[in-house]
Amino acid sequence: MKLLVTGGAGFIGSAFVRLVLKEHPRFKVVNLDKLTYAGNLENLAAVADSPNYHFIRGDIAGGEEMQRLFAQEKPDAVVHFAAESHVDRSILSPDPVIRTNFQGTFSLLEAARRNGVGRFLHVSTDEVYGSLEEPHEAGEDYPLNPSSPYSASKAGSDLLALSYHTTYKLPVTVTRASNNYGPYQFPEKLIPLMISNALEDKPLPIYGDGLQVRDWLFVEDHCRALLAVLDKGRNGQIYNIGGSLALPNREVVRRILEATGKPASLITTVTDRPGHDRRYALSSGKLQRETGWGPLVSFEQGLPLTVRWYQDNADWVRRVKSGEYQQYYERNYANR
Ligand code: NAD
Ligand code: TYD
Repeated sequence: MKLLVTGGAGFIGSAFVRLVLKEHPRFKVVNLDKLTYAGNLENLAAVADSPNYHFIRGDIAGGEEMQRLFAQEKPDAVVHFAAESHVDRSILSPDPVIRTNFQGTFSLLEAARRNGVGRFLHVSTDEVYGSLEEPHEAGEDYPLNPSSPYSASKAGSDLLALSYHTTYKLPVTVTRASNNYGPYQFPEKLIPLMISNALEDKPLPIYGDGLQVRDWLFVEDHCRALLAVLDKGRNGQIYNIGGSLALPNREVVRRILEATGKPASLITTVTDRPGHDRRYALSSGKLQRETGWGPLVSFEQGLPLTVRWYQDNADWVRRVKSGEYQQYYERNYANR
C-alpha cells in the first residue's frame, strides 16, 4: 500500500505519517508538502530515515506538477491534508486559502482521476456546517453554512471532491473532523497559542465573551479515525469525526492555566473575530457504526499531555515563533 499524504509536514499530517509508519510496517508513505509557514520537517525527524518514507517538496495547486508526480509515484491511495488551515489568517489574507484549498484540491483530483488512484481521502472539517444552535448536532447530511473564507474553501473543496465520485467514479471519501489539539500544533490555534503564551507569562487573548463552544479531538484519535475510514469507509460517503468533549473557550483557557500553574490575570479580552461561529457540534455515529472507531484520549488526559509536550519542547516552540510568526501575531493581535 503506497500512500500519498499531502500536507504531511503540518500538525495533523505529521501525526498521521508518524502513526502509519509506526503501526503499518508494510505501508509506504510519500509526503508531498510545500513547506509553508505551517510545514515543518522537524515534526517528522523520528521517521525521516525510514526506508518506507519519502519527502517531496511541491505545491498541490501546480496542475502539471501534480500530473507528473502521480504518474511517477503511482500511489494506491491519497490522504489529502494540505491546506491553509487557520480561520484568522484566512480573514487577513484569503488569497492563498482559496488557491490551496480549492484550486489545490482540484489539481489533486484531476491527477488522481487521470492516474487511476484506488482511494482519495479528502480531510475536511466540521466548520463547513457553520454555527449550530443548542441542542442541534450536525450529521453528515446537515446543510453547509460556512462563515469564513477558510470554511467556505473547505466546503467548496468537499463538494468538488464528491462531484468527482458522482461524475468520474473516482473513489472519494470525505471526512469532517472537529477541532484537533495535541503535540506539534502550530501556536496560532487556540490551545497551543494559550499554552505557549502562558508558559512565557504572556497575555492570553480571548476573542469576545469567550463563550464560543468547540468540540475537542486529540490528534491521534483523528488519525486513527482516518485509518479506519481508509480501511472500511465507503466511497462517495462523508464521515464526521467528533472529539471527546465540547467546551466553551474560557473553560479551555481556565484548564490550561490550571495545568501550567499560571494566574488568571494573564487572560485578556480582545475584540471578537469577524463572523465568529458561536458553536460547533457534530455527531460521529455513522463512523462509529461503520468502523467501530471511537476517541481513546479524553480531554482530561490529552490536555495535560499536550501541555507537557510544549514544556518539554521549548526549542521547537521558540523556532516556530521566530520570523514570520512575529509579523502575523502583530497583524492579528495588535490594536485588537
Ligand atoms: P497545518 O496548517 O498544520 O498544516 C498544513 C500543511 O499543508 C503544512 O505542512 C503546509 O506546509 C502544507 N501546505 C499548505 N499549502 C500547501 C500547498 N499549496 N501545497 C502543498 N502543501 C501545502 O494544518 P492541520 O491543522 O494539520 O490541518 C490539516 C488538514 O486537516 C487541513 O485540511 C484542515 O482543513 C483539516 N482539519 C484541521 C483541523 C484542526 O483542528 N487543525 C480540524 C479538522 C480538519
Ligand atoms: P481556532 O483554534 O482558531 O480554531 P477554529 O476557529 O477553527 O475553531 O479557535 C478556536 C476558538 O478559540 C475559536 O472560537 C476562536 C477562539 N480563539 C480565541 O479566543 N483567541 C485566540 O487567540 C484564538 C487563536 C482563538
